[in-house]
This record gives sequence, structure tokens and C-alpha cells, in this order.
Amino acid sequence: MDCAGRASHLLLLCLLSHTWLTGQSLVYNNRYEGDKVIRIVPKNDKETHELKNMYRQLQVDLWQPSSISNILKGTVTDVHTSSNSSRALLTYLREANIQYRILVSNLQKALEEQSAFRPGRNRRSFSRYDYEVYHPLEEIQSWMHHMNKTHADLISMFSVGKSYEGRPLFVLKLGKKTKAPKKAVWIDCGIHAREWIGPAFCQWFVKEAVNTYNRDPAMKRMLNHLYIYVMPVFNVDGYKFSWTYDRFWRKTRSKNARFNCYGVDANRNWKVRWCLEGASFHPCDDNYCGPFPESEPEVKAVAQFILKRRKQIKVYLSFHAYAQMLLYPYSYQYEAIPNYNCVETAARNAVLALRSAYGVSYRHGPASTILYLSSGSSMDWAYNTGIPYTFAFELRDTGYYGFLLPESHIKPTCTETMLAVKNITMHFLRRCR
Ligand SMILES: *[C@@H]1O[C@H](CO)[C@@H](O)[C@H](O)[C@H]1NC(C)=O
Ligand SMILES: *[C@@H]1O[C@H](CO)[C@@H](O)[C@H](O)[C@H]1NC(C)=O
Ligand SMILES: *[C@@H]1O[C@H](CO)[C@@H](O)[C@H](O)[C@H]1NC(C)=O
Ligand SMILES: [Zn+2]
Repeated sequence: MDCAGRASHLLLLCLLSHTWLTGQSLVYNNRYEGDKVIRIVPKNDKETHELKNMYRQLQVDLWQPSSISNILKGTVTDVHTSSNSSRALLTYLREANIQYRILVSNLQKALEEQSAFRPGRNRRSFSRYDYEVYHPLEEIQSWMHHMNKTHADLISMFSVGKSYEGRPLFVLKLGKKTKAPKKAVWIDCGIHAREWIGPAFCQWFVKEAVNTYNRDPAMKRMLNHLYIYVMPVFNVDGYKFSWTYDRFWRKTRSKNARFNCYGVDANRNWKVRWCLEGASFHPCDDNYCGPFPESEPEVKAVAQFILKRRKQIKVYLSFHAYAQMLLYPYSYQYEAIPNYNCVETAARNAVLALRSAYGVSYRHGPASTILYLSSGSSMDWAYNTGIPYTFAFELRDTGYYGFLLPESHIKPTCTETMLAVKNITMHFLRRCR
């Protein structure tokens, strides 16, 4: 197969199809060979404390949004270890008699089984665009251009700025165009690169909006009365990187010269109690808050965009994975928000609506109590900016597949999540403000 002269974004696919043809796999350059994901269940504070040191020493990658708090609380933690570290870690766990379970025994194999890496996919025309697969960044961006072109009555598209590596930060604006000003909803997906179900949901949402506008009264009402800003991939550089080099990349891709580490946690970089709780000052950590608030161009661009429209935007929704939770503020403190009753009711109804589809349960509540204390999150920032309804979803699942949620789960996950999003939006339109 001749791979020369292709556009650079096709290179990966090209490389992959080549390796498939030769029968030898090079997905992510085989970097996950022998890596394991281990679920660790410490019994007490002493074990928890010792494990914390062990994780640092072995430089393991902590999975699951709750892993950081779980270390503190001493509950279940999923860790991803290289094949070398896993040997040391397993020996330690056995000797210390700490309970554990191997969730993935060879991560490279698990990745190769993912259909996202089969060659020759996603080459179909836009009229048969497949919403039940994960799409690389370039495909999502061409899809956005296509939607902008073909649904001019309901969709417009623009960029709110540029990423660290210079990519445009595209946003779709959905809604019947009116002369009179309308209130708005902001939706972003993919703040964290490896959470691929997020961008898949954002695309699903846009598809449902245009496909059901004429037959679903609720959708019609939403798009007639509101503008809905949808940013399918917030962290474009990180998302791209997660397709090409590191499937489990979380942060942005800005470079820290002093430590030779890359990236800032784009959900710890917002100007709200910045880096006081549940964030790290160390540039090599996965929850690094950055050198200063809004240091990341992606965060700064979106913050400026929302700030300019703070009177218009009334609902802020951010999509993450995984844990099956619907969270609302605060993240940075245990105190209840002023409009707690309203928001709690909306969240409770939304998870009930979600569960009505396939019986999948979501926990809901303030992020600080349900998940962990963390400052500098987009949700808290949006709330403190004056947006009364701010939520963060942690989509499926609860750790069986984790970040490697199979593509066969995209449809059910998005279908049930649509019910929750519509429920929250309708609740807002009808009652609390
Ligand atoms: C893993 O261990 C082997 C043997 O102990 C060593 O040769 C190799 O360099 C190690 N690899 C890494 C990535 O640390
Ligand atoms: C979206 O479409 C409009 C009208 O066709 C065009 O003016 C605009 O430049 C498009 N947006 C982008 C980002 O390409
Ligand atoms: C929202 O969900 C609740 C609980 O399932 C339900 O009673 C209510 O009718 C839903 N509202 C809308 C507008 O979908
Ligand atoms: Zn996330």
C-alpha cells in the first residue's frame, strides 16, 4: 500500500491499514504491550498511604475521575501501569496482602480489539455519516463544516480562538434564527482528551437536534426558544494526541520548558479558587492546574466567549467520562449553592429520565460530595460567572471498559443522555431560572 503523499491526518489510518495487511500490529507503536489496568481496594488509611507513595514511585496513571479522592478516602482505585511497573506493583500488593483485581491484563491487546482502529472505516459520505463510531479530530471538523453548510436554517459555525498548537476552536450554534435575542445553552465535550464518548455525544446531540426538529415538539421548543452552543472537541490538541500517540492522554499539549512535561488539566485551569483543592502544581501531574489561571489558550478562549454572553447563557453542560454521574456545583467547597433546590430537582429528574431508557443508574449531587474537592473547574467557573444551571456529566461506564468504552455503547449512551439533557433544558424553560 502506497502511503506517500497523503494528507497528514490520513497517515495514521494509512499506517494502521498497512500493519493490518502485514498482519503485524503497530497501534500506538505497540507502546501498551504488557501494560495492565489494576483495580486496587485498600482496607484502611495505612494501606492507602503506602499505596500513594507506591503510585508516585512507579509513576502509574490513575484512572477514573474519582481516583484522586479515592486515594484520599481509601476506596477503590483503578491504575494503569506499564508492564515493568505492574510487576513491581503486583508483587507489592501480594506481599502487603492488599486486595486487587486485574481489569485489563494486556492493554495493547485490548486497544487492538477496539474497532476504532480497524482500517478503511469512516470513509462513507456525509449523508451516511456514522454516529456510532469514534471519529478522529479531522473527521469531526469536516463534519462540522458539512453541518454548517447543509443546515443553514438551524446551524451556524465559527471559531472562538486557537489552541496551543494553532488549531481552530470550532463551535456550532444551533437554534432557529430570530431577530429578538434568545437565551442560550452552552455544551462542551472533550475537555479531557481520552474521554472519547464526550465528542461522540456532542455529535449525536447535533444530529438529533436537526433530525427531530420537525417531529419532536420538545426539540422544536428548545431550538425555537434557545440558542444552543455545542463545542464537540474542547481540547483539540489533546484529542488529536490521544488518537495518534497516547490513548490515555488527558491534558492539553502546552509545553513546560523547565520540567520537559506537556499539558495542563483543562478542568483545573479556570479562574475559580485556582489550584487550591484537588489540583497539582507539578507540570508532570495529570491534574496540573497550569502556571496561572487561563494559561491554556483553549480555556481562555472559551472563558472569554462565555463571559461576553453571560447574560444570555443560562445553562452550562460539560461532558466527561467515566463514572455515571450528574454533578453540579460546587466542586471547590462543600457548601450548598444558593439555588440548590432548583438545581437538585433538575438533576434528580434528569437522572430519572436517563434511567428510563435502559435502566442505567447515575448518581447525582454536588461534585465536592459525590466526586471530590477540586478547584478551577469549568462548571464552578461558569456558575460563579452567573450561569444558574451548570452541570457536568460523567458518562458511561463505571470502570469495566472505562475510557475504552466500545463503540457498540455509543448509541445507548447517547440515547439515554439525550433524555437527561432535554429534561434539564425543558426544566429550565418551564420553571427555575
Ligand atoms: C523494563 O525492565 C527490563 C528488564 O528489567 C529493562 O531492560 C527495561 O529497560 C525496562 N523498561 C522500561 C520501560 O523501564
Ligand atoms: C458557516 O457557513 C456560513 C454560511 O455559509 C459561512 O459564512 C461561514 O464562514 C461558515 N463557517 C465556517 C466556520 O466555515
Ligand atoms: C423529566 O423527567 C422527569 C422524571 O422522569 C419526568 O417526570 C418529566 O416529565 C421529565 N420532563 C420532561 C420535560 O421531559
Ligand atoms: Zn474528564
